[in-house]
Amino acid sequence: MAITVPSFAKINLGLRIGALRPDGFHELRTVYQTIALHDIISVSVGRGSGIEIRCNDSRVPTDESNTCYRIVERAMVELKATGRVVIEIEKRLPVQGGLGGASGNAVATLLALERASKKEMSAPARLRIAAEVGSDLPLFLVGGTILGAGRGEEVYPVPDLPAIPCVVATPEIGVSTPKAFADWDLLVSRGPQVTDKLTRPVASDRMSEFGRVLSAWLSSQSQSKYKPGRALSGVPVSKGRGRAETPLLDLVRTGIENDFEQVVFPKCPELREVKRVLVSAGAVYASLSGSGSATYGLFASREAAVKAAARLRKDGIPATATTTLTRPQYWKKIFD
Ligand code: C5P
Repeated sequence: MAITVPSFAKINLGLRIGALRPDGFHELRTVYQTIALHDIISVSVGRGSGIEIRCNDSRVPTDESNTCYRIVERAMVELKATGRVVIEIEKRLPVQGGLGGASGNAVATLLALERASKKEMSAPARLRIAAEVGSDLPLFLVGGTILGAGRGEEVYPVPDLPAIPCVVATPEIGVSTPKAFADWDLLVSRGPQVTDKLTRPVASDRMSEFGRVLSAWLSSQSQSKYKPGRALSGVPVSKGRGRAETPLLDLVRTGIENDFEQVVFPKCPELREVKRVLVSAGAVYASLSGSGSATYGLFASREAAVKAAARLRKDGIPATATTTLTRPQYWKKIFD
C-alpha cells in the first residue's frame, strides 16, 4: 500500500555565515521555520529490488542524485528492509531554491518509507541519515521553529512562534548555494572596509552575536506575556492586535538578518526589489530565504498577506499567501 505524506517547505528567519571549515562547509547559525506550502510524497514498497522515482515536474531528477533516492538507499540498510521502493513526488512547490523543497521531500520519503515497510528506526538514526544526505534535511525531522547550527544539520527545537501569515515570492531566478557561499568568503576576505555591516569579520564573534540576539528574541516573547500592552523595548502594543504581532515586532527589533542578502542582492537586484515591495505592502519582516531566490514577508494579518501576494503577482512575480506552521501543526498534518 502507498503511504502519502505532505512535504512542507521552510524559510530562514535570519542566517549568519561563519568560517569555512576544513570539510568545505561553512559554520552557520540560523532559525528555520516550517511553512504550510508543500509537495506531496507517496511511497510504496513492493516485490523486487531497486528504487524508482516518478515526478510530475521534469526539472526534478529521477536518478540516484535525487535526495529521495539517496535517503532511501541509506534507510533500507538501516531498517534491514528489502523490496522495490517506488516514490511519487507531486511537485507543488516552486523548484527555485531557498525553501528546502528537495530536503523536505527526502525527509517525507523517509517517514513514509518507515510506515510503508512497517519498520521503524531510532530518532537519532533518522537524524544521522538525514544529515548525511544534506545540511537542510534534519530540520524537517523537528518542524516548527528550529535553531540550526553546525553546517545547518545540527537542529534544536526552540519555543514555537505562533502561526504567522506569510507571503512567499518565488522569482524565476536560480541562485547557486555553493557560489553564494564562495561570494561570501570573497566579501569577508576583503575585510570590514568593504561594507559597514561587516564590522566584525571574526567568524566566531559573529556566531556568538547571533546566539545572543536569538536568545534575546526568544526570551522577549515570554517576557511580553507578562507585560500586557507593552512590548520589550517599551514600544506600546495596542490591544486587539493579532497573536502574531508581538513575536514579529520582537523579531524586527533584534535585527536578525540573512547574510546571503549581502552577496545575492547585488547580483540579483530584482530580489532586493521583491523584498522592498513586500515591506511596502505591509510586511512586518521580509527577507531572502536561505540563499534564495525565494523571498518572504511576514504579516500581521492574513488579509494583508493575501493583498501583498496579489500585488507581487500583478508585477509578474509568482507569490503565494500562506502561513508558518507550528511544530504541533506540522506533525499533525504529516500524521493525519
Ligand atoms: O549540505 P548541502 O548539500 O545542502 O550543501 C550544498 C553545498 O552548499 C555544499 O557542498 C557546500 O558547498 C555549501 N554549503 C556550505 N556550508 C553549509 C552548507 C552548505 O558551504 N553550511
